[in-house]
Amino acid sequence: MLIVSNWKAYVESKEKAKALYLTAQKLAKGSTHDLVLTVPAPYIGMLSSDKSLVALGAQDVSATLGGATTGEITAGVIADLGATYVLIGHSERRAMGETDELLLEKTRHALAHGLTPILCVGERERDEDARYLKVIRAEIADIFGALTQKERMEIVIAYEPIWAIGKTAAEAITKDDLREMISYIRKVLGDYLPGKAGSRIKILYGGSAEAANAQNLADDTGIDGFLVGHASADVANYTALIKALS
Ligand code: PGA
Repeated sequence: MLIVSNWKAYVESKEKAKALYLTAQKLAKGSTHDLVLTVPAPYIGMLSSDKSLVALGAQDVSATLGGATTGEITAGVIADLGATYVLIGHSERRAMGETDELLLEKTRHALAHGLTPILCVGERERDEDARYLKVIRAEIADIFGALTQKERMEIVIAYEPIWAIGKTAAEAITKDDLREMISYIRKVLGDYLPGKAGSRIKILYGGSAEAANAQNLADDTGIDGFLVGHASADVANYTALIKALS
């Protein structure tokens, strides 16, 4: 599985960043899973190493190409620092006003610099008429519809129902609902990548994934991994989570 940490802004010291990074290195040694840490961008350079067993990513990327854009952290900088992944369209960034056009620009820049975009999709709430399915379809369509077949194959999807983010394992999605959503997302991907191609796209689950629920959510739901927020930003919780999946 692909297990992506999203440290968000929980990590605000070099010491904590290094401790989490070293923990991930140790865990990666004994694990069959691929571990990725998406960290606050300024820490990428400090953590990056050729010998690393874990990959690094940014939590966002500029929609600009560089040049006269004060304060922007471009895909070129992120790639140059040694990251290979970038989160695109996390719900916490969409809530700050990021539009689908903007996310498409970000995705294009990430791809142009060889970064793997992790496209975050997820509904705000579950309604009885299943309108949430349309939300997911639209969020995928806005990006996939504008990319070439080859570019689509580079994307990782993170399904993160917004109502399940930042809570506890007990409040995460149920196994049955997750299985249903993953199969729906596979169907949508099939519209853009016919044949076997769509089934090769990785789909992660995010939203209160913790040591207590990870293995259960991983079994028989069709997910290819997790995007982990709060539980990834604490050495003990992160260790317990990775061990629970081993
Ligand atoms: P959480 O966050 O694990 O704290 O719910 C997941 C995410 O927002 O990526």
